[in-house]
Amino acid sequence: MSDRLFIFDTTLRDGEQVPGCQLNTVEKIQVARQLEALGVDIIEAGFPISSPGDFNSVVEISKAVTWPTICALTRAVEKDIDVAAEALKYAKRKRIHTGIGTSDSHIRYKFNSNREEIIERAVAAVKYARRFVDDVEFYAEDAGRTENEYLARVVEAVIKAGATVVNIPDTTGYCLPGEYGEKIKYLMEHVDGIDRAILSTHCHNDLGMATANTISGVLNGARQVEVTINGIGERAGNTSLEEIAMIVKCHKDIDIETNINTQKIYPTSRMVSSLMNMPVQPNKAIVGRNAFAHSSGIHQDGVLKNVQTYEIIDPKDVGIDDNAIVLTARSGRAALKHRLQVMGVELAPEKLDKVYDAFLKLADKKKEINDDDVLMLAGADRSENHRIKLEYLQVTSGVGVRSVASLGVNISGEKFEAAATGNGPVDAAIRALKKIIDRQMVLKEFTIQAISKGSDDVGKVHMQVEYDGHVYYGFGANTDIVAASVEAYIDCINKFKH
Ligand code: KIV
Ligand code: ZN
Repeated sequence: MSDRLFIFDTTLRDGEQVPGCQLNTVEKIQVARQLEALGVDIIEAGFPISSPGDFNSVVEISKAVTWPTICALTRAVEKDIDVAAEALKYAKRKRIHTGIGTSDSHIRYKFNSNREEIIERAVAAVKYARRFVDDVEFYAEDAGRTENEYLARVVEAVIKAGATVVNIPDTTGYCLPGEYGEKIKYLMEHVDGIDRAILSTHCHNDLGMATANTISGVLNGARQVEVTINGIGERAGNTSLEEIAMIVKCHKDIDIETNINTQKIYPTSRMVSSLMNMPVQPNKAIVGRNAFAHSSGIHQDGVLKNVQTYEIIDPKDVGIDDNAIVLTARSGRAALKHRLQVMGVELAPEKLDKVYDAFLKLADKKKEINDDDVLMLAGADRSENHRIKLEYLQVTSGVGVRSVASLGVNISGEKFEAAATGNGPVDAAIRALKKIIDRQMVLKEFTIQAISKGSDDVGKVHMQVEYDGHVYYGFGANTDIVAASVEAYIDCINKFKH
C-alpha cells in the first residue's frame, strides 16, 4: 500500500498574512468549508493571539468544519498557547502549532539567546501545549538555515516532550532542493524516536523552489506538506497545494497518496483568488488561465491528433470544465445558484436574490457571465456596510482635452457632490472625491486588471493609499474602470482608523 501524505493547508494563516488579502470571518468559513470539500487533512485557521479577528475566525472555523483537524499557531509563549487552546475549544480535532527560531541568526538577533536555552524553551512550549491537546506540532523557524546537527537535537528534544509533528520550515526560501532533501534525510537518520512523529515541510518560494524543495522533502521521508491555495503567502509565497497534489497524482513512481479530490482544485483556486482579490498569474502551473492553452501551431496539431502529445494532465482532473454552462441575461436564479454551488458558494435565499439582481444588471452590460464574474458578484456586498458610498459618477475625457469628472457620495446618509478636472478620467474623479474628503492621502499603488477577456469585461482595481502613517488596501470591480477606481479609493478610505 502507498504511503499517505498529509496535506496541511495554511491559506488562512500564512496566506492571509499577505497585505491586502485579509478576509472577514464569514469569508474564512467559506474557504474552510471548501478546503474540507477539497480533502485537506489539516486547516491552519489562524494565529489567535495576534488579533481578536484571528481568534474569532479560529473559533468559528472550528464550529463550521467537521472532518479536518483545525490548527492554531502560537509562539513558544504560554499566553499564546492559552489563547490558542481557548480558540480551539469547539474543534472536533485540534492541533496547537508552536515553535521558535533555531538558526544562529534567530537565536542571536531575535532572541538574544543561546542554543541550549532555545531547546529548553522549545521543550517547555511543547509540554505546555500538550496539557491542552494531544496533537502538538512544533516548528523550528528558519530550519532551512539551521545547522543539521543542532536541528536534530531540537527535533529529538521536542519529540521526547510530546510533539506529534515536527515542521522544518525553509522560512526564507533559501535552500536548494538537494540541500532541503538532505536535511530531512539527516533528521530521519539521526533523530532518536523519529518514528513517533511526522516530519513536515513548510517551504517559501523566494527563489522559486518551494515546490521542488517540498517534493525533495517528501522523497526523503517527510509525510506532511504545508501548502496554500495558488501558492499565496508571505513575500513570494508558499508551496502551492495544487502543484503538490498533481505532482503526486501524475508521478505514480513516488508511490504516495493524498486525500485531495483534485476535481475541486480549480473551483477552490477561483474562490480564494476572488475572495482575497489576489489574481492568479496566467502561466501559474495547474490553475493559471494559460495552464492548458496550447497556442503554437505545432502543439495544437499534436493535441488534436492525440491529447497526450502535449498534455500531462486532463483539465477535467483539476475541475476545469470546458463545457461549463455559460450564464447570460436569460439565465434563471436556479442556474446562478447551481454555478455558485459548483464553486463551493452557498448563499442564503435573501443574499441569492441580491446577487441575482446584480447578476442581471451585469448581464445587461456583458454578453456572457463567467465564473470570476459570479464570484465577484457573490462577494460584492462588502461595501454594504461602508460609511462612505459612491452614488453617481460622470466623466468626460478624450484626446487633447482635460478630463472632467463630477461625482456624488453618501457619507453616513448625507449627500455630497463635487467636480474636478484632471490628467485623465481617473485623476479627475479622484480629485473630485478629494474635494469632498479632504485628507492628506497619497495613492501609493494602483493596478487595473480585466477579469478575463473582452472589452465588455469587468475591470478589477487594487489600490494602496497612505494616510496618517498607515497603508490601506482597497478594491473595486465594475465594467467601468473609472468607477472601479473610485470604488477602490473609497474602499481604502472606509478602512481609515479615524
Ligand atoms: O515560514 C515559517 O517559518 C512559518 C512558521 C511560523 C511555521 O510560517
Ligand atoms: Zn511560513
